[in-house]
Amino acid sequence: MYIIQGGEALSGKIRVQGSKNSSLPILAATILNGKKNTICHVPKIKDIEVMNQILSHLGANIAVKDNVLEIDSKNVNKFDVPEHLMRKMRSSIVLMGALLGRFGRAKVSYPGGCEIGPRPIDLHLKGLSLMGVDFSGGHGFLNAKTDGLKGADIHLDFPSVGATENLMLAAVLAEGTTIIRNVAKEPEIVDLQNFLNRMGAHVKGAGTDTIKIEGCRIEDLKPVNNYTIIPDRIVAGTYLAAAAITRGRIQLTNVISEHLEPILAKLRETGCVINSRNGEIELYVDRPLVSLDSIRTLPYPGFPTDMQAPMMAFLATVEGTSILTETIFESRFKHAQELRRMGADITINGNTAIIKGVKQLSGAIVEAKDLRAGAALILAALAAKGETIVEGASYVERGYENIEGNLAALGAKIVKKDKI
Ligand code: EPZ
Repeated sequence: MYIIQGGEALSGKIRVQGSKNSSLPILAATILNGKKNTICHVPKIKDIEVMNQILSHLGANIAVKDNVLEIDSKNVNKFDVPEHLMRKMRSSIVLMGALLGRFGRAKVSYPGGCEIGPRPIDLHLKGLSLMGVDFSGGHGFLNAKTDGLKGADIHLDFPSVGATENLMLAAVLAEGTTIIRNVAKEPEIVDLQNFLNRMGAHVKGAGTDTIKIEGCRIEDLKPVNNYTIIPDRIVAGTYLAAAAITRGRIQLTNVISEHLEPILAKLRETGCVINSRNGEIELYVDRPLVSLDSIRTLPYPGFPTDMQAPMMAFLATVEGTSILTETIFESRFKHAQELRRMGADITINGNTAIIKGVKQLSGAIVEAKDLRAGAALILAALAAKGETIVEGASYVERGYENIEGNLAALGAKIVKKDKI
């Protein structure tokens, strides 16, 4: 749990961690080449630990030195992802594409439903079937098998991040050309493409609607030395929202501001002053802020769903009425009732939240039920009067490296304690 005394305006400078949602598919990609890969700027977070446990179970040799991972996938000789680890992290479904590429087999358990609504994988399966994969299953397990992946022309019904990544990974060692249309355009997809091309794959189009992959053979793939993961745009956005909610002034280093544009645009619309220059972003508040008539989460380059909860916490302190619509996940508003316990005035109507800013939130005991909800509750606590206890630190640790240390360095009164 986190114990926070609110009321301090944040100030100072912190460096942003590497991207969780870029690191996970790139770690899965190391299975493809059967060689030694060095990846830098990997965040020290629980989800990476789980991915490393899974890769070790499959036979990889992993050395972790701070934020540098050395992964040798030469001895990977299994294709079943252990259920207890699969349950810990739904995004391990992205291993399926890499395992099918390497071995023509994969056995995964159906990814556990997540706190943010059902997480189907129909788009993953439809695309892989077109590439010659047969599925059988039962008792919560999914067996995938192919006599040889074949390139295919695949149109995704929805630009799913995970489905895009899984199909890219399966296509690298497929025979022939794979075209994937209506793909996700998130920066993490571009990072995966760059990593795969550094490995010797032939991937084009990431960041646009269509990705094209020329299949190759495993002997054509090389070790990847010193690949640096892009900065985490959602962690960066979370810290900017922390400065905004406390009316403080902070600078972030190691950011790619273009990746944050949709977030910066909305923060500026409330009146926050944001300057970004040579890899740094500064945010401060020097005027009364205004509410947002409409903010909708959308696939990139729209406003990211992962920033919806932190943004809701911030808007709960901005005078006026903000209307926030979640279009990506079905039930990603669980944090609203916890924010209400702190005095927020939020009404949920289907996938829309009506947020009426209040003058002052007040400390309470609240509970996080997912990663970004946890971050949102910490942000609310930073601005609230008095003490707040945020339960569910284990969710926050999945994606934020040392959030309590970083916020304390910016002047917040926050400590993390193991659950008593
Ligand atoms: C990735 O999840 C991220 N996780 C999520 O971040 C992020 O919220 C999400 O993309 C959207 O940007 C990782 O990258 C590890 P999707 P993913 O497939 O791949 C539906 C965080 O907090 N869908 O783009 O699971 C799905 O149910 C996490 O860091 C299908 O219907 O997201 C959801 O409603 C949370 N069928 C929507 O699409 C499918 O086959 C978006 O899912 C696949 C997805």
